[in-house]
Amino acid sequence: ASKRIPLIAGNWKMNFDHLEATYFVQKLVWLLRDARFDYSRCEIALMPSFTSLRSVQVLVEADRLKIRYGAQSVSVTTQGAFTGDVSADMIAHLGCSYVIVGHSERRKYHPEDDANIVDQVRAVLAAGMQPILCVGESFEERRQGIELDFAVGQVHDVTRDLSDEEAARLIIAYEPVWAIGTGMVATPDTAQEAAQAIRDDLRETFDAQVADTVRILYGGSVTSRNAVQLIEEPDVDGFLIGGASLDADEMAKIARLT
Ligand code: G3P
Repeated sequence: ASKRIPLIAGNWKMNFDHLEATYFVQKLVWLLRDARFDYSRCEIALMPSFTSLRSVQVLVEADRLKIRYGAQSVSVTTQGAFTGDVSADMIAHLGCSYVIVGHSERRKYHPEDDANIVDQVRAVLAAGMQPILCVGESFEERRQGIELDFAVGQVHDVTRDLSDEEAARLIIAYEPVWAIGTGMVATPDTAQEAAQAIRDDLRETFDAQVADTVRILYGGSVTSRNAVQLIEEPDVDGFLIGGASLDADEMAKIARLT
């Protein structure tokens, strides 16, 4: 358990249309209400597809729900002739708190390199939201024993030119690629080791206060079972959850572990 307010974030990836998203939010809120969940314990956030954001916003605002939400990626340009792109302002105007940036699936299936990811981080910050920057090594880097340098390097390369004020608004998700969707969750020690290495590097690059403020999440095959021990680690400030975030019972259970 860390001293920062934990963030339990569900990355729905390309799942749920807007009706399913609406149903999910209602069910999750009902489960939490039934369990008399204390929302001051953690932040709960959902990352639906762009097509569901407006539905989630309407529901959250109408019922004044204490659920936050965000998008899964963002365009680096502000407006204009960019067919298919969605700007940070458009996302912010839907009441989003967060945008996932640099998820390994985006790095793999889209031409998102470090330069593009830096621009996404800046676009999200400029629009008043918080980027959830995803980093993490593949199995190959782990086999070579360079996993910590790799993950720390990914954070460093993207964040080094940010000001202290900007960096303090970052959220980082350590998601080792070998753990995503595989059922091979990192051990609590592995997650802690990476989160600590990332935090140590932030401490060298920015004010100590920045390093103490930034939340570092773990992602990769998180379930309510393995989350019990992971959340005990001092530098693990919550989770970015894929598969299990499609199950409202799982999300409610994981939130209640914080
Ligand atoms: O962003 C979350 C993610 O990549 C982890 O996915 O299905 O292993 O929880 P999953």
